[in-house]
Amino acid sequence: MSTPRAPRWSIRLPDLRGQRAVVTGASDGVGVEIARALAIAGADVVLPVRNRAKGERAVASILADAPHAHLTLVDLDLADLASVAKGAEALFAAGRPIRILVLNAGMIALGDPVRHTSADGFELHFQTNHLGHFALVARILPLLRAGAARVTVQSSLAARSAQLRWDDLQLERHYSVFAAYGASKLALSLFALELGRRSAASGWGITTNLSHPGIAITNIAPASLREGRTLGARLGRRIMDAGVGGTPAEASLPALFASASREAVAGAFYGPGGFLHLQGPPRRESLYRRFEDRQAAARVWSVSRELTGVGFEASRADAG
Ligand SMILES: NC(=O)c1ccc[n+]([C@@H]2O[C@H](COP(=O)([O-])OP(=O)(O)OC[C@H]3O[C@@H](n4cnc5c(N)ncnc54)[C@H](OP(=O)(O)O)[C@@H]3O)[C@@H](O)[C@H]2O)c1
Repeated sequence: MSTPRAPRWSIRLPDLRGQRAVVTGASDGVGVEIARALAIAGADVVLPVRNRAKGERAVASILADAPHAHLTLVDLDLADLASVAKGAEALFAAGRPIRILVLNAGMIALGDPVRHTSADGFELHFQTNHLGHFALVARILPLLRAGAARVTVQSSLAARSAQLRWDDLQLERHYSVFAAYGASKLALSLFALELGRRSAASGWGITTNLSHPGIAITNIAPASLREGRTLGARLGRRIMDAGVGGTPAEASLPALFASASREAVAGAFYGPGGFLHLQGPPRRESLYRRFEDRQAAARVWSVSRELTGVGFEASRADAG
C-alpha cells in the first residue's frame, strides 16, 4: 500500500475523559482510527479482537499517538457465538458502564465465490457483520443501560440496494458475495434502528444511530486489489489514489461524529458528504429507503433472537 496522505478533514470531539467506549473491528483499518480518535479525546477504549497479536499492534499504534490512553483488549470472534458470550463476560467482569459502542467490525469475501459458514453454521457475512453484533449487544445490555450508551453501527453504501431474502436468509440457494454482504449490513442497520425504538419504548436510555465510511482501501479488500495485480485493480487503485475514496482516518469520521459528537442525533445516518458519498467530511444523510421498513426491522429482531438464542429480556440484572 502507498503511504497514507494526511487527512483532508477532521472533526473536534468533546472531552471524553471518564467515558468507556467499545469499538469492534479496532484491530485494523477504519476501526483502529475510530479507537485512536476516541482515545485521544480521553475515552477508555476497549478493543474486542479475534486476533490478539493484531490487537496488540493496534494498541501500540494508538499509544504512540496517545501515550496516556487507557486501552483494553478483549478476545472476541463475532463468527463464533461462544466467543461472543465469553467476550461479553469479560466486559461484565470489568464492571464499567459503557457510554459509546461502535459496531464497526466487518468482512466481505471479495474475489471468493464460495459460500462460507461460521463456527455456528450461519452464512459468514450474516454472522460476522450482523448476528455476532446482535448477540453482543443483547448480552451487554445492562452495561449499555447503565452507561446511557449511544450505539453506532457501521453500515455501508452496499446496504442501499440490498435485500433480505426471508425464505433464504442464509443464501443457501442463491449465494453471491455482494448479496451476502449487503444483506448483512442491511440487517445490522435495521437492528440498530429497532434497538433505538425499543429502548425509547422501554426506557432503557440507549440511543442508536448509523454511519458509513464511504469507500477506503483497507485490508477488507483482497491483496490483489490493494496491490493492483490486475488491470481492473490497477484502475481502481488509481481512482482511489486520485482522492475519490478516503483514507482510513478520513473514513472513520462519520462513525466518530455519530458516536461521540454532541451534535449527532439519535436515529440519524452519517456518511461522507463528498461526491456520491464516497469521501468527504461527515454529513447527515437521509436514511436509505430500506432502513425505514419497520416491519423488516421487527422481523430482523425476532429472527436474530431465534438464530442466536440470545434475547434482550433474558439479560442479567442491571450493572452499575
Ligand atoms: N473500507 C471500505 O471501503 C468500506 C466500505 C463500506 C463499509 N465498510 C465497513 O467499515 C467497517 C470497517 O472496515 P475496514 O475497511 O476498516 O475493514 P478492515 O480493515 O478489514 O477491518 C475490519 C475489522 O473487523 C474485524 N473483524 C472481521 N471479522 C471479525 C470477526 N469474525 N470477529 C471480530 N472482528 C472481526 C477485523 O479483525 P482482524 O484484524 O482480525 O481481521 C478488523 O479489525 C466494516 O464494517 C466494513 O464493512 C468499509
